Amino acid sequence: MLIDSGLKSFEELYSLLSQNRDLTIRDRVIDALTTNETSWFRDRAPWQLLRHTFLPQYVEALRSGRTSKIRIWSAASSTGQEAYSIAMTIDRYLRDHMIRDVTLEQFEIFATDISQTVLDIAVRGRYDSISIMRGLPDLEKSMYFQRHGMTWEVDERIRSIVRFQRFNLQDSFILLGKFQLVFCRYVMIYFSDDLKRDIINKLSRCLTDEGVLLIGASELNTLIDRHFELKDTTHGSYYLKKGERA
Ligand SMILES: C[S@@+](CC[C@H](N)C(=O)[O-])C[C@H]1O[C@@H](n2cnc3c(N)ncnc32)[C@H](O)[C@@H]1O
Repeated sequence: MLIDSGLKSFEELYSLLSQNRDLTIRDRVIDALTTNETSWFRDRAPWQLLRHTFLPQYVEALRSGRTSKIRIWSAASSTGQEAYSIAMTIDRYLRDHMIRDVTLEQFEIFATDISQTVLDIAVRGRYDSISIMRGLPDLEKSMYFQRHGMTWEVDERIRSIVRFQRFNLQDSFILLGKFQLVFCRYVMIYFSDDLKRDIINKLSRCLTDEGVLLIGASELNTLIDRHFELKDTTHGSYYLKKGERA
């Protein structure tokens, strides 16, 4: 890639990126350096927790009028499987419990990634036969996808509550608003402790009181303890935002 772009060293590349002049090169470097590995319903715990612990609370909060919208952030969404899995879990929950006074549209899933390449795939919502097989149960596949030849397209209702946007986790979170739940999984593993600390701090501020952070299964991180309390349940573990004074 260096040779392709006419640059002689990584320092030159770094300097070019910092000056942010050549967006094409910046995008190519991002794509070369980031791992976009993902799958549908990745790991068991988040989906069990969402279904059995968080969704009953969210439905209750919407019913009581304590909130008019539940906002969930997929903070390193890659090609969209995590965000769409969240939307499918919500829809299944509402259907399975025959809940009619709370609707799918009262949930917003905000999904972001630093890579425009993965976001383009996510927004399109079409997956080939290999990516569709990775973790997607047959029931969800039949309920939420339309087949077009060798690709499967996510149902319009599911897509309608998911909003994708390019966003670098190193930037300020202030304009993003508040979320009840953040999925920030398998991305901080690549960052330095200083950057992790900064992101964890910003994540705690963008969560509502009682807001929850979910990280990847192998990402147990002592840096989180200052802002979050680890909660272990039969459905899995999650990080609950500590009160401001804690
Ligand atoms: C391994 S994937 C994880 C996808 C998904 N969260 C999951 O658990 O399946 C990591 C994603 O983080 C994104 N990423 C890396 N650095 C980032 C940054 N600074 N800001 C936002 N996204 C970033 C990558 O582009 C990649 O799509």
